Amino acid sequence: MDKSTINIGLIGFGTIGSGVVEIFNQNSDLIEKKTGKKVNLKKVVDLDITTDRGVKIDPSQLSTDVNDILEDPSIDIVIELIGGYEPALGFILKAIENRKHVVTANKALLAKHWNEIMSAAEKKNVRISFEASVGGGIPLLQPLNESLAANKIEAIYGIINGTANYILTKMSNEGLNFEEVLKEAQIKGYAEQDPTFDIEGHDTAQKLIILTILGFGAYVKQEKFHVEGITHITSEDIKFAKDNHYVIKLLGISQIIDGELEVRVHPTLIPKTHLLASVNDVYNGVYLVGDFLGPAMMYGQGAGMEATASAVLGDCIDIINNPLKRVPYGPQKSLVKSIKNIEDVTSKYYIRLTALDQAGVLQAVSGILNDFNISIESVLQKKTSNGDKVPIYMVTHEASEKNIRQALTIINQLEVVQSPSLFIRIL
Ligand code: HSE
Repeated sequence: MDKSTINIGLIGFGTIGSGVVEIFNQNSDLIEKKTGKKVNLKKVVDLDITTDRGVKIDPSQLSTDVNDILEDPSIDIVIELIGGYEPALGFILKAIENRKHVVTANKALLAKHWNEIMSAAEKKNVRISFEASVGGGIPLLQPLNESLAANKIEAIYGIINGTANYILTKMSNEGLNFEEVLKEAQIKGYAEQDPTFDIEGHDTAQKLIILTILGFGAYVKQEKFHVEGITHITSEDIKFAKDNHYVIKLLGISQIIDGELEVRVHPTLIPKTHLLASVNDVYNGVYLVGDFLGPAMMYGQGAGMEATASAVLGDCIDIINNPLKRVPYGPQKSLVKSIKNIEDVTSKYYIRLTALDQAGVLQAVSGILNDFNISIESVLQKKTSNGDKVPIYMVTHEASEKNIRQALTIINQLEVVQSPSLFIRIL
């Protein structure tokens, strides 16, 4: 940018927005040094400009009118931090229309309206940056785009939802049930009052869509891939995992297997020796494999005011220094036809079922698995105080998901099976 002063407009004075203001308050000298320009937070727009956010801001910087940013020709970069679809989409498109660069943390919007936003930006020759949309403050998207650009990405495995990771970690550390931990997490403010989005895997799915575009150049809409949350995971499953040197994590997986792209979100048993197994509490970790790089893992705070604001301001500095940077993503063709159907995915599986403690039960269950070409690696049947019902845990060798589903449907119909079986994929 050839101006000596760069003006920034911030839409959304919430948690992350307050973090952005605080970075300006504390690090504006640093930002000036890194850009060689005066960088001015000219306007902050929000519907509520009276509540104290605990950060210093001059009242003249505040407005409730978004046009004070979108229609101000002196504003060069618009930061959108209101989240959601509308009015965020309208604001971003207007900013682009008025030739402003955009920085956003809005993964939901990008995951749904990628092509519309990228086409508009391409047409107007402005940049859209969104490092904060996946993994909060972790440098992830820019390294994927730039430092790793010479690699064919082979796999991306992400623990990219802090809420779900906190719940699973706590269940594991304290032997508690899902519901108990969720309640406590809500009281402590780690989980939303309506936590559906986080615990049902939708937030992970949206972030995975963005990672898949950057990693594989494929835009796969959420309805095209398998998304499964963690609400059915019990303390029994966690204990089995622990006793057998695994941890259970909600994983977003995008990988090329035999030339085909697999995209899926589900709880996964991960061997304790895997780097991802040490990503605990609200932390996020993304493990990826490049054909020349080999494996690497990025780890850090995937949410939160300060960490996420640091990614937002990092994007602004990059745009100021490189306003014409050509980024290797743009409107993407949907590669839906070549996405592997979840039924064709192969994996090892953990299976849990409850059956009557009678002769021949294991034989019946293993016979059905055998009919579907599923080989058993180990079986554990536990005594409980629950009358003559016993939980049975199994680990299979590699099998196709179609076969597992069909076999379990038949197993569930056995008279001796007392509650529907559950399976969890193993990494
Ligand atoms: N709700 C998300 C999480 C943070 O729990 O990780 C925002 O992406």
